[in-house]
Amino acid sequence: MLVLGIETSCDDSGVALLDSHRGLLGHCLASQTVHAEYGGVVPELAARDHYRHTWPLIDSLLKDVGARLQDIDGVAWTRGPGLSGALLVGAALGRSLAWGLGCRSIGVHHMEAHLLAPLLEDDPPAMPFLALLVSGGHTLLVDVRGLGDYVLLGQSIDDAVGEAFDKTAKLLGLGYPGGPIIEARARDGDPRRFALPRPMLDRPGLDLSFSGLKTAVVVAVKAAGTIDDQQVNDMSASFQAAVVDTLEAKVRRAIKVCGHRRLVVAGGVGANRALRERLAGLANDGVAVYYPRFEFCTDNGAMIAQAGMMRMLAGEEEHSGSFAVKPRWPLDSLEVPGAR
Ligand code: KG4
Ligand code: ZN
Repeated sequence: MLVLGIETSCDDSGVALLDSHRGLLGHCLASQTVHAEYGGVVPELAARDHYRHTWPLIDSLLKDVGARLQDIDGVAWTRGPGLSGALLVGAALGRSLAWGLGCRSIGVHHMEAHLLAPLLEDDPPAMPFLALLVSGGHTLLVDVRGLGDYVLLGQSIDDAVGEAFDKTAKLLGLGYPGGPIIEARARDGDPRRFALPRPMLDRPGLDLSFSGLKTAVVVAVKAAGTIDDQQVNDMSASFQAAVVDTLEAKVRRAIKVCGHRRLVVAGGVGANRALRERLAGLANDGVAVYYPRFEFCTDNGAMIAQAGMMRMLAGEEEHSGSFAVKPRWPLDSLEVPGAR
């Protein structure tokens, strides 16, 4: 089975071709740059950019891998959650392409795709596992019992962790997206220079919060008056250390709750090397940690093809040929394919 994956939920247009026997044949990504000057994603600009780039990406991917449109057996596109205009571009394209080709089509849950992304790798994690999903829009701890069988253990009650990276970067006068820039600046910074809180570690439970941490950065920057280059590095390191401490502590708690010995870390913040180094320590407690390859931590078409293919192979039927999108779509409302 050959599945085309199409991702357009935010500011990356991603497409990929996944074969059930040969694996990933190829993928292409166009990351939008129009948002940089605004310090965040502008929804209308995102939708227009997807509209311009997604079809040419599919066209060049087919040429690259030497496949034809008629070879495609199924189209998987992101139904949600995400920006509605951006989602609609991928949905309309994916659904109409499937209609024209007379093949299957599935609207995929973007966060399910993130948590399944490590299954594209050579040594994939078996289910069940614990998933830490850390992206620009979500921070979730999920007990993954099987495909579509997700129990939400904890989530951010305010900002997502990627959003906190982005807002902190904006505050420090750095670019967008903030995560990779803060990570780079943190390498030359002192993580003990600024005392920042480790939110919600003083209370029981698995929920997280990152808006207070961002406010603490605002207060510290104001108190410092003008902030020089070294202080930007130190603040980046202090912020990143607070995030890593907090995530590690919550993951350790979640492992105790669900009892799984496998942890999947996915979503854009999963590319952060300081986080990866810290979580590597879980091996001492017999917990194996799995990641997608770096380029599949952030949004991409391959993970959408992967999630769509798994659901198609599990017998999921398309819902009424609709290309309705779901900008808000709780992960734990998903169903096990073929359960009904
Ligand atoms: O998963 P993703 O590409 O998009 C969403 O679904 O949101 O995640 C994007 C987020 C952004 O907030 C970005 O700043 C963050 O992931 N990010 C990182 C790193 N690379 C991307 N955060 C920390 N360290 C990184 N290396
Ligand atoms: Zn994402």
